[in-house]
Amino acid sequence: MTDEPLPIARTVDEVAAALQPAWERGDRIGLVPTMGAFHAGHLALMRAARETCETVVVSLFVNPAQFGPGEDLSRYPRDEGGDALAAAAIGVDLLFAPAESEVYPPGFDTWVDPGALATVLEGAFRPDHFRGVATVCTRLFGIVRPKVALFGRKDAQQVAVLRQVVRDLALPLEIEARPTVRDEDGLALSSRNRYLSTDERELALALPRALDAGLAAHRSGEDPVAVVRAALEAAPGLTLDYVERADLGGDTLAAAVRVGTTRLIDNVLLADGAGP
Ligand code: PAJ
Repeated sequence: MTDEPLPIARTVDEVAAALQPAWERGDRIGLVPTMGAFHAGHLALMRAARETCETVVVSLFVNPAQFGPGEDLSRYPRDEGGDALAAAAIGVDLLFAPAESEVYPPGFDTWVDPGALATVLEGAFRPDHFRGVATVCTRLFGIVRPKVALFGRKDAQQVAVLRQVVRDLALPLEIEARPTVRDEDGLALSSRNRYLSTDERELALALPRALDAGLAAHRSGEDPVAVVRAALEAAPGLTLDYVERADLGGDTLAAAVRVGTTRLIDNVLLADGAGP
């Protein structure tokens, strides 16, 4: 724990000024991109970065480009003060919390379009979502110049898309994926869980339970997709967007549901140790 206030950079120039010594030393710089409203999943990424990197940078930017029309951009939870305290307690070196005009300055007009992988699963329900993610992350990689960027397997397709971007554009960094952090009852932590009422949260537990049942079914030779689909279609109060099996850094069973107005995603690896 530390009581030192965390330096906050608001502009690209402030990031450069703060990181110049680390760049010159050739530090292993770890970047954890986030949209804030930190929970234990975000903090686990920061701790993992702290363990292996000399300099740890966290970005906090609610990226409008990855939200579709009618999605939750305007009500997305924001708590920069609380986030800064939590990141400081882990020993993060720099928080980059820019305004939108700093990430997308006037005249900004280059987009990273990740191709086929961005059109399936989440991409089929959220057109342009991964274009927004890929573009903001590519720009963040350019601003911070990390040797490694850390992401959660909770968003397994996001990790797969970003690995493709890094490979295709020959960007000089590694993508590290970390396991999904869950609440004690199994619900994957998400900034969006705070939209759920107590009753909705109870209904939402059907998602991790169905994926668990799918994993068990797979291990006993049954079709995991059919088992998860049946469980989620039978679950009260949930609308199933999709359940699919895909290679997302390992053989993965991924699903998305809606509970009231809240959309939740989750996934499990079917093959032990096959993940990144
Ligand atoms: P955000 O949803 O804030 O998530 C930031 C990082 O935390 C992502 O890598 C995400 O996968 C990870 N994460 C979220 N919930 C997690 C959990 N329960 N366990 C482990 N990791 C978890 O993902 C984004 O922001 C944005 O798309 C971003 C990459 C920042 C680009 O704007």
